Amino acid sequence: MMSFVIEEILKNKQDIVNKKLDTLFISDCTEHERLFDAMRYSLLAGGKRIRPILFLLILDIFNKNSEKYLDVACALECVHTYSLIHDDLPGMDNDDYRRGKLTNHKKYGTGIAILAGDGLLTYAFELISESLNISDNIKIHLIRILSKASGACGMLGGQAHDKMVENKEITLDELRLLDQCKTGCLISAPIEMACEIAQVDSQIKNVYYEWAVHLGLLFQITDDLLDQNGHLNDMGKNPLQDVINHKSTYVTLLGEEKARLMAEREAMAAISLCKKMKNAGALEELIGYILHRNK
Ligand code: IPE
Ligand code: IPE
Ligand code: MG
Ligand code: MG
Ligand code: MG
Repeated sequence: MMSFVIEEILKNKQDIVNKKLDTLFISDCTEHERLFDAMRYSLLAGGKRIRPILFLLILDIFNKNSEKYLDVACALECVHTYSLIHDDLPGMDNDDYRRGKLTNHKKYGTGIAILAGDGLLTYAFELISESLNISDNIKIHLIRILSKASGACGMLGGQAHDKMVENKEITLDELRLLDQCKTGCLISAPIEMACEIAQVDSQIKNVYYEWAVHLGLLFQITDDLLDQNGHLNDMGKNPLQDVINHKSTYVTLLGEEKARLMAEREAMAAISLCKKMKNAGALEELIGYILHRNK
């Protein structure tokens, strides 16, 4: 019953986000058609849409009309999709499948894949700056939060760290730090951005921020577990890539059983923070969904 409800919520929000994403990157100029095709190829290939959904769910909690902010939700998905296209490149994780299709560089070549990523990243900020229903002052804060989360002290920093320690065994503390940047920052950003729009007071905001950190770690631990146990047909990406790329992950450092326990601990910490929030039933169920996900 529980998973049925959250799956309904996710499906409903996914449909809303997908419909809006489908209106983006329609080229009116033949010279740029291939680049636009490449951006749409990865953006519309599926994906769980967890980051825009988090943003929308939290706006709902604060009684903001979340559908007024779909531009910002799409901006989050554009940045995330860019990070995946670049993550899959031969110089990075060198993956062949993503979201159930050939990776962007396998389909369009490395040059266009790099540019498609760049295009998605920059367009995210265009979307926020042009979005209706938000004051200029709040837009500046949204742009600040998202650029910081994606940049050198956020996701990119984590990606660089991840690259630098390939073939090395790092400590669990170092892995945690790496993952907080690599994955955590783009999970926290939607939460921070929704709090900014809703002008939530700092005490409440801190509970959400703390929750976001646990969710980010839970998300990466389960991603590492899926790399070990998941299937291409469910995940849309090949398993065992971390082994092939000699990555330190929760699974390689702790073994599967302890990694699973750590995921459960992060989930419990997040769920206990949900009890301090109002109307957070969907967020609580989302944690269970991520803990048990198969994709
Ligand atoms: C995969 O993200 C990359 C990580 C940060 C672990 P998702 O698991 O959210 O990928 P999609 O968007 O559903 O394809
Ligand atoms: C990537 O982490 C996180 C990003 C910033 C894209 P992974 O390399 O583990 O993600 P997957 O497993 O390829 O989706
Ligand atoms: Mg990677
Ligand atoms: Mg990867
Ligand atoms: Mg992974």
